[in-house]
Amino acid sequence: MTSTSTTRTLNFSAGPGILPECLIQQAQEDLWDLAGTGIGVMEHSHRGKAITTVFENAIENCRRVGQVPEDFEILFLQGGASLQFAMIPMAFLNPNRRADYVNTGSWSSKAIDEARRFGNVNVAWDGVGEHFRRIPKPDECPWSEDAAYSYYCSNNTIYGTRWPTTPTTTAPLIADMSSEMYSRPIDWSAHDMVYAGAQKNLGPAGVTMVIIRRSLLEKATTDLPMMLRYETYAKNRSMYNTPPVFPIYFVGLVFQWILDNGGVAGIEELNERKAGYIYDAIDSSGGFYRGHADVADRSRMNITFRCPSEDIEAKFIEEAAQHDMVNLKGHRSVGGLRASVYNAFPEAGCRQLAEFMADFAQRNG
Ligand SMILES: Cc1ncc(COP(=O)(O)O)c(C=O)c1O
Repeated sequence: MTSTSTTRTLNFSAGPGILPECLIQQAQEDLWDLAGTGIGVMEHSHRGKAITTVFENAIENCRRVGQVPEDFEILFLQGGASLQFAMIPMAFLNPNRRADYVNTGSWSSKAIDEARRFGNVNVAWDGVGEHFRRIPKPDECPWSEDAAYSYYCSNNTIYGTRWPTTPTTTAPLIADMSSEMYSRPIDWSAHDMVYAGAQKNLGPAGVTMVIIRRSLLEKATTDLPMMLRYETYAKNRSMYNTPPVFPIYFVGLVFQWILDNGGVAGIEELNERKAGYIYDAIDSSGGFYRGHADVADRSRMNITFRCPSEDIEAKFIEEAAQHDMVNLKGHRSVGGLRASVYNAFPEAGCRQLAEFMADFAQRNG
């Protein structure tokens, strides 16, 4: 499965984001008739062979593509990444314990607020004073040794920053990878749990991937409703109740697509090139464009930048749309522009935006 050339609108949305075209075409067929069964993927029972095979392949390909060690469970949950903000402290924190969080943007702030409902939170570093332009340097972030867990958000969708390297902690490390999952390799020796809402890099909205080390999972309190316990999903192959079959099916296709396109290492190389075109357009504009993130911490998925004035930004968005490039408006807390170029975003589309940016700067500078 490889991507076909596109005649579709170039969608720079931060999420739900663009999906591989060839998989949308595949899904169109499978909605009608999955694997010659005469029944569409959304109509099959999750207990039947067709869907259990889909699930097993998705889990196996998730493990292969991410090189996930055998002592990690691969789970499909609902409730979005936002439910994980609460489910993590519900499972691993209590009023007598403390967890470390690093505040690198709105999504980690929300996770911190949820954690405070269940126990003590140590904010090991807070980027709010610098408008979340950067990630802490390793020596700026005093992680505690006795924390129940340490938590960070690896890619900050709104501000366009990412952790250039994995933090080193003593306590079990948990990462929100929603906006960059499988865009670069994951260091499994450093992490005990990573999770991601699917709707940016993995598939449609409606499923959240949780990959959790068994030894951490076993530390979770059991004093929780069944649907809020990781163990329930692990014991029942994510089928304790009726799972979101279609998003899981699609995520499985995406894993296969990554494998067919050079694996995570191949995708990472491509992502470097894709983001590079746009960052080069910013850096070579003689100050017309100003990137929001510090250069060392630039996200390869979400590229945030400003023009000389809000009026010029509005004109940029309008003209880009005339060239079939949409969803470039920045998040309201940063303003300006944001180009989200997830795994499925075509390289030619990044070049097209970069060329447009150079031309626009020349005409409006
Ligand atoms: C990094 C990050 N974490 C969490 C979320 C929240 O995800 P959900 O809408 O699946 O709850 C988002 C959504 O944009 C995100 O970008």
